[in-house]
Amino acid sequence: MCGIVGYVGHKEAEPILIEGLHRLEYRGYDSAGVVTVTGQKLHIRKRAGRVGELVRLLGERPAPGCLGISHTRWATHGPANDVNAHPHLSQDGTVAVVHNGVIENYAVLKRQLQAEGIRFQSDTDTEVIAQLIALQLAELKGDLIEAVQRTLALLKGTYGLAVVSAAQPDLLIGARLGSPLVLGIGDEEHFLASDPSALIGKTQQVVYVQDHRLCVLTADDWHLLDYDRTRVQACVQQFDWDPGEADKSTFEHYMLKEIYEQPETLENAMRGRLCEADASAHFGGLNLDTQQLRRAERIILTACGTSYHAALVGEYLIEEYARIPVEVEYASEFRYRNPPIDRNTIVICITQSGETADTLAALRESKRKGHPTLAICNVVGSSIAREADGGVYLHAGPEIGVASTKAFTSQVTTLAMLALYLGRMRHLSAQQGLNMIRELRSLPDLARRALHCHDAVKRIAEKYYDVSNCLYLGRQYLYPLALEGALKLKEISYIHAEGYPAAEMKHGPIALVDPHTPSIFLMSRGPVFDKVMSNLEEVKARGGPVIAVTCEGDEEAATRADEVIYLPEAPEYLQPIIAVIPLQLLAYHVAVLRGCDVDKPRNLAKSVTVE
Ligand code: AGP
Repeated sequence: MCGIVGYVGHKEAEPILIEGLHRLEYRGYDSAGVVTVTGQKLHIRKRAGRVGELVRLLGERPAPGCLGISHTRWATHGPANDVNAHPHLSQDGTVAVVHNGVIENYAVLKRQLQAEGIRFQSDTDTEVIAQLIALQLAELKGDLIEAVQRTLALLKGTYGLAVVSAAQPDLLIGARLGSPLVLGIGDEEHFLASDPSALIGKTQQVVYVQDHRLCVLTADDWHLLDYDRTRVQACVQQFDWDPGEADKSTFEHYMLKEIYEQPETLENAMRGRLCEADASAHFGGLNLDTQQLRRAERIILTACGTSYHAALVGEYLIEEYARIPVEVEYASEFRYRNPPIDRNTIVICITQSGETADTLAALRESKRKGHPTLAICNVVGSSIAREADGGVYLHAGPEIGVASTKAFTSQVTTLAMLALYLGRMRHLSAQQGLNMIRELRSLPDLARRALHCHDAVKRIAEKYYDVSNCLYLGRQYLYPLALEGALKLKEISYIHAEGYPAAEMKHGPIALVDPHTPSIFLMSRGPVFDKVMSNLEEVKARGGPVIAVTCEGDEEAATRADEVIYLPEAPEYLQPIIAVIPLQLLAYHVAVLRGCDVDKPRNLAKSVTVE
């Protein structure tokens, strides 16, 4: 899931392309490059490593020109090195391409081109596109639009791409199939980007490019074509992220800033959606009529990664408060599994970015089968948000840290409100509704108080940051949190961590317990407290260090655990939103102490736009 940026206008392109890459670096960061055009000349500069490496190279060899494209890479084909970095040039040096996505038939096309004497520089799938466009261009005497269109017809797979050529040094071409692409409209200048964050401070007028569209941009004009070269109408939308939202402000890392934003983002997720008068929740964008919602006999929640863990909490919430059977599906499995789904089933996709390829494919598969679909999503205008029948935006603002934090707590809060809304349509009394509203409204303050555990968590991190394995254990609403805590530690500190329902330990994982493997127990004062305490004792009995995350005033856990993190008491069904905060902070501090790049962990990217 790479990031691409394109610019055509009257200003020097290089600084605009680089600033855009810095904003998109969370999408992939193993190499970066830029190419600009002046007259018949292409100026290409690319380097393995972060955008900073490319900036150092440009310091020595600037890239002149008011037209250019750039790229930050998450490798799919070929190792992270200078040669495989984008842009990729055609053999004759006349065409340059940057690409986000995967060309599935690249190997066949590459062999055909090699048989025609074309020599390849890189191991990438993308270079095939540049070579094909150049061959078409030679045949078409310089018609770049036609050359790109003919080339796209040969490709199988996904792409968000940008093309420039010495043949038409005033033209910037973009194309989209499956991978996100945004067109930015400026005053005598135009932009292309993988997501709108690259355009912050540049323009507020954007077009979210749909699949099978070609963008044709010059400094003074822009239009969209479909693949038989017919001009198509475009929906220009306002994009109003202020630069401040996407900056770290006083925090050392985006992840820590986003953890501390949660009291506010929880407020945003609930704003205007809780209604005491109806003792229920209101959602403006579900677009499903009450009958459809009332008739729903089954709900499928589908997602990936952290969003999948939020879905698991959603299963508990909706089954308990709306009494509707819920299934939670990994999107990548769901889209190929073809499960029997009856008519009165609603499919809900949960996604921060709205661009995760597996979740998008699961959505399209559900729509193909005629099931009503909803999206719980953070990024306005993203593919999943646009393609779902309806949905709910999280309003959590840009989440830049690769490890998802504030999106998770807003997703679970939104699922709790959805359970209230669907429950009030069924058996939940007005009083029960009012109780839930009162408890939901207490979340921002509870989160603010939970952040007070920061120093205690930091001390525990200093004690355990060099372990190799770690176990997270919880029951009921806190079981999905055990999975989420383990994922946070894995993805930013690279420590092997597993999450389990606490009682599951006896059936195998307890064999992992030893004095060097801490177990983090998520405790709640609910009906299974004593059961969790027995599980804790089983680990203690085998010499495993225990860290207990529990509610203030719980002395019992403190008597048995080696470390205790106290949290303000929250209703059991809302505890995942509060108890995740120390788990986010623990992973954060362990990663910092291990010298890991917290915001850009190795091998990961913020939105996974390839399958
Ligand atoms: C979580 O910290 C990771 N960044 C990752 O697991 C993420 O949750 C997953 O890729 C799903 O992304 P989405 O919510 O944007 O669809």
